[in-house]
Amino acid sequence: MTTQPSTHAQSVNNQFDPQAAAYLASPVHAAGPDLARARELVAGVAQAGDVALDLGCGAGHLAFNLAPSFARMVALDASQGMLDTVRDAAAAKGLGNIVTELAAAEDLPFADGRFAVTATRYSAHHWGHVAKAMQAMRRVTRPGGYVLVIDIESSMIPLVDTHIQSFEFLRDHSHVRDYTGGEWRALFAAAGIELIEHALWPTRMEFVSWVERMRTPPDKIRMIRALQLQAPQEVRDALAIEEDGSFTLQTGLFWGRVAG
Ligand SMILES: C[S@@+](CC[C@H](N)C(=O)[O-])C[C@H]1O[C@@H](n2cnc3c(N)ncnc32)[C@H](O)[C@@H]1O
Repeated sequence: MTTQPSTHAQSVNNQFDPQAAAYLASPVHAAGPDLARARELVAGVAQAGDVALDLGCGAGHLAFNLAPSFARMVALDASQGMLDTVRDAAAAKGLGNIVTELAAAEDLPFADGRFAVTATRYSAHHWGHVAKAMQAMRRVTRPGGYVLVIDIESSMIPLVDTHIQSFEFLRDHSHVRDYTGGEWRALFAAAGIELIEHALWPTRMEFVSWVERMRTPPDKIRMIRALQLQAPQEVRDALAIEEDGSFTLQTGLFWGRVAG
């Protein structure tokens, strides 16, 4: 019998805790042009002694890329399994300045203005309260500091957006929402963070590894394939849906500054 999670946070934990090794090995997460741009952006603003935060660090790929620019990098996640993997992988990479913290993005256990840069990658679409988490990111970023958000960016076309959210939710019931560029602009503005840069890259999801990473049950895989086969031409074109179910989403990068 399947255990029913009682809260969204528990559902996220059930999904991710056993999957840390899969996320460490995932090519979608380990590489990507967004990581190169993120490294450039933080290297351009980091000063001696600065401390940075990666929220929803998963197996740690963003933290590994940003850590060399900072005196200390705090890798935060709601999953202890992910943090154990980050600790071991950081040691193996010789990144001695990474420390881990078990906490929720919405409830950050840090003093106001503690970080020069707060960053997150491929995690925000799981957050139960994204607006609250954005406020928390702004609070712990020092005046004049920077906020970096990288995540799957949904389509401004409602028909395409509905299909993206449906595929994602069937694949992983801890999925909340891939936000559109317009929604991210509104979230930055509401949190009082000035958006400075927005970039977008196509990201191909190879179907088999995409569902295996989240241990999607066979009945849900069949539902995703049925939705893909029935999808109207506009959706098949927008998502470049392939014969084996692989498809292409967009990775959005948002770089903002806290008034200082
Ligand atoms: C896909 S993984 C992150 C990938 C990683 N950032 C990278 O660059 O490879 C998503 C992570 O977000 C974490 N997460 C989801 N909701 C969270 C929340 N509200 N607070 C903190 N972590 C959360 C999950 O536990 C999971 O480890």
